Amino acid sequence: MNPFDFTMPTKFYVGAGRLGVLEEIAPAYGRKAMICAAKDTMRALGFTDRVGALLKAAGVDFSIVDDVEPNPRDVDIDRQTERFVAENCDFTIGLGGGSALDTAKAIAFLAAQDDRSVRSYIAGGSKADLEKVNRPFPVICIATTAGTGSEATKWFVVTDTRSHDKPGVGHDLLMPSASIVDPELMLSMPPSVTRSCGIDVLFHAMEAYVAKCANPFTDILAEASLRLVMRYLDRAIRHGDTDIEARANMAWASMLGGVVIGEGNSGTVAIHALGHSVGGQTGAPHGLTMCPFAVPYLEKTWRADIRRHAELTRIFGGDEGGLSEEALAARSPAAMKRVLQQFDCDVRMRDLGVTEAMIEPMTDSVFSTMAGVLNNSLVSFERRDVTELFRAAM
Ligand SMILES: [Fe+2]
Repeated sequence: MNPFDFTMPTKFYVGAGRLGVLEEIAPAYGRKAMICAAKDTMRALGFTDRVGALLKAAGVDFSIVDDVEPNPRDVDIDRQTERFVAENCDFTIGLGGGSALDTAKAIAFLAAQDDRSVRSYIAGGSKADLEKVNRPFPVICIATTAGTGSEATKWFVVTDTRSHDKPGVGHDLLMPSASIVDPELMLSMPPSVTRSCGIDVLFHAMEAYVAKCANPFTDILAEASLRLVMRYLDRAIRHGDTDIEARANMAWASMLGGVVIGEGNSGTVAIHALGHSVGGQTGAPHGLTMCPFAVPYLEKTWRADIRRHAELTRIFGGDEGGLSEEALAARSPAAMKRVLQQFDCDVRMRDLGVTEAMIEPMTDSVFSTMAGVLNNSLVSFERRDVTELFRAAM
């Protein structure tokens, strides 16, 4: 058993209709909030107005940044941070999917630092060790997708517009102060977003389950998260506008995945490390960027832990009975393939806009910004192995 530790400093409010709790809790975080909302959608759905109305009822002033794009860029985060400071805000509220929640975390962190450029804190930056950082401003996350698990992690991800890398910044102080996980807010998520976010949940749980850092705490949560995805993602994609049970269970699966890769201290592996470089180059939806690597990755790693890979095959519905543990483990890549097909996520890198010429810079990016994640894999990945995995996924 790997030794492990965990803390869970975020207060979670989970369940249908819980958005209303914002009115109760907001005043504790300050007099003025900055709402960081996903571009276009949050206003169109009326969510920005609902959040604003709750803050108003609570006597909390607010300003709105509602131009948060998918895969938030360094230049935008810096600009939004300056606005937070200029407008004397006290805390941020992320409203949307992972990009909005990550932006809220990034702004709250940067605004509290002497050097407010996000590039200083990403891999290669002058303060990337995050050793002497000031305590960030508080963050409230309101998740409207079931995907990144950002509502339950100490991470934000930023797209570096110079290098096209997509590094993450993680620190214990980056845990949200509070997270509201209300599946009613997820009913209007379109099927394509439900799909790409839902498959991200699956990867967080699956990768953490076969990661070097897996521990008894994360094993239980990862297995539970995977089983929920297998049971409810299809329903959420097909009937997501009315099926509140499917939405609630996917929201719960996403939260569990966040805990697993965050405070649970397991983490993702080469699949996410390579997926981030695809996202940095192409801007493709994050969840889909891992799909091309899943099968070749399992082909390379299943022998490293027969028991866990056999269990994956069972969870993925690939146990036809009468097979040894080893035979089951050997079937994990095929079981993974069927799961990707089932959720219509069996994409190749070229489908996401990757060209042959991008493989070299993407390989550089994996080692310069995602080496820690890569090294969490059960087998070691040298440069040649990464290039091979890229080619297998093309
Ligand atoms: Fe992810």
